[in-house]
Amino acid sequence: MKNITKKFGDFTANDSIDLTVHKGEVHALLGENGAGKTTLMNVLYGLYEPTFGEIYINGNRIEIKNPNVAIKNGIGMVHQHFMLVETFTVVENIILGMETTKSMGIIDMKKATKEVEEISKKYGLHVDPHVKIQDISVGMQQRVEILKALYRGADVLILDEPTAVLTPQEIEEIIQIMKNLTKQGKTIIIITHKLKEIKQSADYCTIIRRGKKIDTVKVDEVTEEDLASMMVGREVSFKVDKKDADVGETILNLDNLVIKDNRNLKAVKELSLELKRGEILGIAGVDGNGQSELIEGITGLRPIESGTVKLNNENITNLTPKEIIEKRLSNIPEDRQKRGLVLDFTVGENIILENYHKEPFSSKGRLNHKKISEYSKELIEKFDIRPRNDKQMARNLSGGNQQKIILAREISNNPDVLIAAQPTRGLDVGAIEYVHKYLIEQRDKGKAVLLISFELDEIMNLSDRIAVIFDGKIVDILDAKNADEKTLGYLMAGGGVKNETK
Ligand SMILES: Nc1ncnc2c1ncn2[C@@H]1O[C@H](COP(=O)(O)OP(=O)(O)O)[C@@H](O)[C@H]1O
Ligand SMILES: [Mg+2]
Repeated sequence: MKNITKKFGDFTANDSIDLTVHKGEVHALLGENGAGKTTLMNVLYGLYEPTFGEIYINGNRIEIKNPNVAIKNGIGMVHQHFMLVETFTVVENIILGMETTKSMGIIDMKKATKEVEEISKKYGLHVDPHVKIQDISVGMQQRVEILKALYRGADVLILDEPTAVLTPQEIEEIIQIMKNLTKQGKTIIIITHKLKEIKQSADYCTIIRRGKKIDTVKVDEVTEEDLASMMVGREVSFKVDKKDADVGETILNLDNLVIKDNRNLKAVKELSLELKRGEILGIAGVDGNGQSELIEGITGLRPIESGTVKLNNENITNLTPKEIIEKRLSNIPEDRQKRGLVLDFTVGENIILENYHKEPFSSKGRLNHKKISEYSKELIEKFDIRPRNDKQMARNLSGGNQQKIILAREISNNPDVLIAAQPTRGLDVGAIEYVHKYLIEQRDKGKAVLLISFELDEIMNLSDRIAVIFDGKIVDILDAKNADEKTLGYLMAGGGVKNETK
């Protein structure tokens, strides 16, 4: 790609970008949210026509007017949000739009199934062609998208943030799949802002910042710190600076909690834990060991079967979420789009979501839009939410800025306890640093933070104490200073649990 510029009105999303990718390599595109990565790849895939610039494939200039031209030239793209028909099977999705027919227009499903199976096997995708999309995991759906591109003859595969939606296990698998693909001569362009994954999977990395190309580097020759500072344009510290914890009295007391999951099985099993003022208590654990149910129980979103939750010595067990918020417990939920925001409300409306019924935001049952706007503009400024527009729909903001809306709302409620679940999932390093700063600030103000994260690095960097959850119970609590990855990993896998004989 030579000199690619893409403007949307006055805004320049790509500014004279050059990108060279060689056959058989994994090439990472790195940049913060909004840097212009997806736009550049949409240009390559023919979804956008560049304002200026040229594209050469195997030395030939090609005008990629639409995705059909891209596909014809061996370029395939897997978007961040999958585009599959939920009620169709895998094979039906893969052949959609290019069905081969037998006589009388009957689709040759046997042939298609066989072809899909062959490709799946060749690249180690392990996809079952007969299952329906709605019945398979997100990780599997992603592989179906990859298969779909390969079935159409893709030699260059563009993956837009493929790991954002995956579990650590699935991430390892997709990295392996990428290796299988390049071994067989395919070329991969992977958009990501996860430095660790670039180190694990990519040969080259091109860094884009605010629409401009910063550099293309050989991944072997740079550190994660180098990549991070090229990405955000300043030094980024991975080490979180914090002074020693000044720990006070117990503020949240969980005693013998039993909470059931959606299948009506016990997910939290007689769990007890104390959270103290002035500390960040991290809960380390593999996804699915009761973390989500625990948070939902504490915050009133899911019934607690037995046991008690006390906040400031007051019993808040099974109060409504609204009552619990009033008792000054705030929550940064795991799923920011489903639970943290109303996507079709404005930024301003989302900011007052927990206070809309109070003065000065409403009186006598009517919203006071002027006051709401004043207040939210103040927070937008303070929390650096971009764009600076309280009337913008939350849906239209990047993930990092959506998270800032939630932070702004929850922290401005002046909570005693802040529960932060996966607070930095899917965010880039700049935004991560920002979220961490606010969590530590809460702690230093003498509040308490309960941090739930699947990222061990995050838990180890931020926490003062680390509780390990396994199978719905806390199996051990360590002082963060003495905790290392190996010990935590062992405990998280159930290594510390004694075999009880009944
Ligand atoms: N269709 C569009 N119309 C207007 N602006 C857009 C459009 N697509 C992207 N942008 C803007 O271009 C910038 C780069 O977006 P994008 O390429 O999606 O970033 P990235 O993938 O690096 O996060 C963002 O500021 C975004 O708001
Ligand atoms: Mg993008």
